[in-house]
Amino acid sequence: MAELIHQNFEVLTVIRRFDIELGFGEKTIEEVCINNKINPDFFLEIINSFNDEDYFSQSNLQAHDVEDILFYLKNTHRFYLTKKFPEIEQLIHELEFSENNSQNKQLLENFFNEYKEEFINHVQREEERIYPYITDLDKALKSKKACINFHENMKKYTISNYQQEHEDVEEKLYDLKNIIIKYLPSPLNTDGYNSILIKLFKLENDLNEHSRIEEKVIVPKVLEMEKAYHTAVLANQIEIA
Ligand SMILES: [Fe+2]
Ligand SMILES: [Fe+2]
Repeated sequence: MAELIHQNFEVLTVIRRFDIELGFGEKTIEEVCINNKINPDFFLEIINSFNDEDYFSQSNLQAHDVEDILFYLKNTHRFYLTKKFPEIEQLIHELEFSENNSQNKQLLENFFNEYKEEFINHVQREEERIYPYITDLDKALKSKKACINFHENMKKYTISNYQQEHEDVEEKLYDLKNIIIKYLPSPLNTDGYNSILIKLFKLENDLNEHSRIEEKVIVPKVLEMEKAYHTAVLANQIEIA
């Protein structure tokens, strides 16, 4: 496991999302995962797709338990909101402008706050509506029982609705980067912009990877689960009460 970090320190942030703490001595990836109740294959799939954009293996990731994938996605939301966003906010806060450019800081703060608000809404919708729906569907398939409300609600909302409404949360980050790169005069502490831009580029890549899992792994997997559910209902293999 230590070697994995030496090879690419960027995976440190991914390791945190699995709630794995450092200090693993000579333990292998498999041993660390098992100690932390994580499926080692799933962990490696996530690490590999994070490390190498071309590696992304839709079918391998889809093969994993949907709860493992949701756990990772939720922790990733948490990572953005409690770690990445505050870091960027702090860097914007530290910018120093000359008196006649002082409104720029406010402009960046407002823009970023708006972005954050949109992002929080996006995440809330996923965690309060979509992910619980997937969990209920998973439970129905595993227990062969579904409650009538769930069954009826499925007529109004399925993963196809999510697929259609899922917004691109990265787009606005691109605009923010452009405002800094193209239009705003530099602050007095000129490195300030670079630090913010580097964080924004990294966040954008990370978000792309996150959305890719939602769109290319979760959506097709849940489509299959929905199909299996309907087949089982027709064959009276799921009890609806
Ligand atoms: Fe998400
Ligand atoms: Fe999303």
